[in-house]
Amino acid sequence: MAVTLDTLRKMKQAGERIAALTAYDFSFARLLDAAAVDLVLVGDSLGNVIQGHATTVPVTVDEMVYHTRCVARGLQRPLLVADLPFLSYQESPQQALHSAGRLMKEGFAHMVKLEGGAAMAPAVRFLVERGVPVCGHLGLTPQFVHQLGGYKVQGRGEAAAQQLHTDALTLQAAGAALLVLEAIPRALATQVTQALDIPTIGIGAGAACDGQVLVLQDALGMNPTPARFVRNFLLGHDDLGAAIAAYVQAVREGSFPGPEHGYD
Ligand code: KIV
Repeated sequence: MAVTLDTLRKMKQAGERIAALTAYDFSFARLLDAAAVDLVLVGDSLGNVIQGHATTVPVTVDEMVYHTRCVARGLQRPLLVADLPFLSYQESPQQALHSAGRLMKEGFAHMVKLEGGAAMAPAVRFLVERGVPVCGHLGLTPQFVHQLGGYKVQGRGEAAAQQLHTDALTLQAAGAALLVLEAIPRALATQVTQALDIPTIGIGAGAACDGQVLVLQDALGMNPTPARFVRNFLLGHDDLGAAIAAYVQAVREGSFPGPEHGYD
């Protein structure tokens, strides 16, 4: 049966972990579908892993639409989420609606993801009230890389942790139905996950999140300098499908992420 937002909400309530991965093309999408991944994200990380850019900043809406459309053709079961790329939604709620509309109508995404905290709440509300499901993204938000001064763990220290907690509650109140938490201390991710009704999907945020996501190329050992929250699931497996199935199983049973993949 197709995964919906209702499925993910019920999984959170039942304590069943959500397995998510990124994909950018039809062939990998089909493998993820076969491995029963719950959520597939067409991340703007395609700027890094497909296009070879140093950051996600140059990615355009046209490129996101193209890759989302390719992925959509390979999926039957998972929820399909697509990233709104940098400066395709920050200008105004109307701009966000226009860009999101393209990802849904031309790319066949079920939901869009955007980065940022309380400042994004008006756009989130505007989208949700018009039928566009929204996933938030807090912590290490790669579109902010130049402001953050690099890819660094976020939410450390009391003020930053409090700010992230407040942002999470504000996004939920604005109607966000999912929240990605990236590269934050596991204790903070645990608190936020417990405080929210909506599911959290962690990447470098510890094992207490309701689900986990990795960039597919990272999970398949293709990154020569992986972050510490990455595990190479191809090791010990002799085909891609088995590696992806191993990731799904490890997330579901709670053996990934392990203590070595998190931050304090
Ligand atoms: O762009 C992306 O792939 C993402 C994930 C890392 C969460 O935002």
